[in-house]
Amino acid sequence: ACGNSDTGGGDGGDDGKLVLGFSQVGAESGWRTANTNSIKEAAAEAGIELKFDDAQQKQENQIKAIRNYIQQKVDVIAFSPVVESGWDTVLKEAKDAGIPVILTDRAVDSADKSLYKTFLGSDFVKEGRLSGEWLVENKKDATGDVNIVELQGTTGSAPANDRKKGFAEAIAADPKLKVIASQSGDFTRAGGKQVMEQFLKAHPKIDVLFAHNDDMGLGALEAITAAGKEPGKDITIITIDAVKDGMQALADGKFNFIAECSPLLGPQLMDLAKKVHAGEEVPPRIETEETTFTQEQAKEALPNRKY
Ligand code: AHR
Repeated sequence: ACGNSDTGGGDGGDDGKLVLGFSQVGAESGWRTANTNSIKEAAAEAGIELKFDDAQQKQENQIKAIRNYIQQKVDVIAFSPVVESGWDTVLKEAKDAGIPVILTDRAVDSADKSLYKTFLGSDFVKEGRLSGEWLVENKKDATGDVNIVELQGTTGSAPANDRKKGFAEAIAADPKLKVIASQSGDFTRAGGKQVMEQFLKAHPKIDVLFAHNDDMGLGALEAITAAGKEPGKDITIITIDAVKDGMQALADGKFNFIAECSPLLGPQLMDLAKKVHAGEEVPPRIETEETTFTQEQAKEALPNRKY
């Protein structure tokens, strides 16, 4: 479909390969790096020509990349939308050009579901809920208020919105669990560190940190230690992802619980790209399989952790 074809998507690259244009969120976290690697490796494995763009966490860059892919007449477009809203126009352009779109990892809030073929990714609400449920159980014997601070992911992103929601729903079961501060650390280590420093200055009694990903939790560890507190003991820490560094912190007793979010979406994405290109029906929603980890479970799983 690339090069000199002017017939719209659907007739393969110069060497007959299926051409997939992928717009990645950025390189903000260990999770994202593992996700990018998974996609690149799976494309090579599947014999798919991958055009890859890193949007550096900016929606305008993603829209630009998608428009480029439309212009190049790629066969299939896939992307992980940095935020949930504002995609209707560009998705309509892809649809009008006859190029099927697959959402991976993160969702869009478009009312018109015909703008994309399927959404492959985690259930972020569930990840938040599992985190909250663990906390309810862990603090069931605590007396007095349990003060929680929350490091949110990128503002407006599906994982930040959904994890916040699932966690809030779960901890509502116990009125002594109170979120006293909640702010975005943009899913980065630097963001997590900086916002945690502010939290520690503003709030003398912090019992729990809920970070929407491992990287922000890892950044926060530095702030907590610098404030003379012991992470995992003075402050209970819950994160999401379960990348290697996060799992190491959990095994070392610095984190207390991780809800897994799998970045290994590459093989399923390539499979879906082939199917939608062939005009096959695919399920509108494909959920990633995930688990949770305690400190003991992290010690066991760590030696075999690939990312
Ligand atoms: O969309 C998935 C989230 O994005 C991951 O949990 C986070 O680490 C990443 O930046």
